[in-house]
Amino acid sequence: MSTGPLIVLVGPMGSGKSTVGALLAERLGVAYRDTDADIVAAEGREISDIFIEDGEEHFRALEREAVRAAVAEHTGVLALGGGAVLDAGTRELLASLPVVYLAMDVEEAVRRVGLNTARPLLAVNPRRQWRELMDARRPLYTQVARAVVATDDRTPEEVAQAVLDALELKDA
Ligand code: S3P
Repeated sequence: MSTGPLIVLVGPMGSGKSTVGALLAERLGVAYRDTDADIVAAEGREISDIFIEDGEEHFRALEREAVRAAVAEHTGVLALGGGAVLDAGTRELLASLPVVYLAMDVEEAVRRVGLNTARPLLAVNPRRQWRELMDARRPLYTQVARAVVATDDRTPEEVAQAVLDALELKDA
C-alpha cells in the first residue's frame, strides 16, 4: 500500500510550486511530480490548448483524475495546479495529507505571471482577475493546508527551507 506524498504543494499560479517542489524533492532525495505536467503528457497538448479547445470544465475533470492518480501513486513531492482545490472531492482527498499553501500578494503575482499568456486565466486585466481569483480561492487553499508559507521577497531556497520547517521535515 502506498503511503501517499511526503509533501503536497498548493497555491496560485506563479507561487513557485514547480521550482520549490523540485528543490524540495532534491533535498529530500525523493521524486517530484506535477499534475499539470501529468495532464500535458497524457493529453499530448498544452494546458492552454485544452482550455481553448475543450473549455475549463473539461480541464477540471482531467485535473480531478490526475490529482487522484498522483495522490494514490506518488510518495515524493507533489505540486498541484492552482485551481485543483476548486473541486470538493479533491479537497476531501487532501484533508489527511501534508499540504502546504505557497502564498503571495497581488503585486508579486502580477510581476511574476501577469503578462504570461501561457496562463489562460490571467490573459486579460491580470490585476483584477487575480483579486477575483484569490477572493474565491484563498479560503480553499487555507482549508486544505496544514501550513501556509509566504513566498514574497523570498528565494526558492528560502521558501523550500520554510516548507521543511513548517512540516518538521529534515533533508535526506
Ligand atoms: C490554473 C493553474 C495552472 C494550470 C491551469 C489553471 C488555475 O497551474 O493548472 O492553467 O486555475 O489556477 P499552475 O498553478 O501550476 O500555473
